[in-house]
Amino acid sequence: MDGNGRWAKKRHLPRAMGHQRGVEAVRNLVRNIEPLGIECLTLYAFSSENWKRPEDEVSDLMNMLRKFIKSDLPEFIANDVQLKIIGDYRTLAPDIVEQLEDALAQTAGGSRVLAVALNYGAQQEITRAASLAAQTGEVTVESIAANLFTADLPPLDLLIRTSGEVRLSNFLLWQSAYAEMNFTETLWPDFTPEHLQAALNEFSGRERRFGGR
Ligand code: IPE
Ligand code: MG
Repeated sequence: MDGNGRWAKKRHLPRAMGHQRGVEAVRNLVRNIEPLGIECLTLYAFSSENWKRPEDEVSDLMNMLRKFIKSDLPEFIANDVQLKIIGDYRTLAPDIVEQLEDALAQTAGGSRVLAVALNYGAQQEITRAASLAAQTGEVTVESIAANLFTADLPPLDLLIRTSGEVRLSNFLLWQSAYAEMNFTETLWPDFTPEHLQAALNEFSGRERRFGGR
């Protein structure tokens, strides 16, 4: 979900306003998971490398997370959305961990999944999964996959990166082995369910061979 800062800068607004509009874009998409027919939507909200940002920005982002869970949890429950977290979220502030775990428990039965990547880094995830796999038996593609944060999520079909950057930035590296990629110039706060629908339409026209022919 990239481009919040540039969205704000273009409007001579503080960065926090860009993040705020980014949260609104998230809310708008989550409301459309069901109508768009999406089984699982995964959002890269905070990477393990985002800690390098200035302290006040990190604290703005954490406060927005607190506010978002509080305000939107009832809507998740009402709309049958199941929250999942990928990443090392247990090292976040204790009140956030508590809030997240409560949200996980309260949404556990939901039929559409919203997975949020928090303190997530794919290299760290793969390292952890390989080490867990080694502790319990043979290290294989399957045993690593079974120990990834995404073990109980459906396979990744489509990965979208906003804001014109053409890189993965440590997001779902293992899972994107055969995922289709979509790189768009749209800044995250401007990304609407219509943009997602357009990406899905384009995706449905792609021929996927998974290494076959
Ligand atoms: C992404 O927007 C937001 C998060 C990391 C949560 P940026 O803050 O990276 O926006 P740009 O790249 O400066 O435009
Ligand atoms: Mg950025």
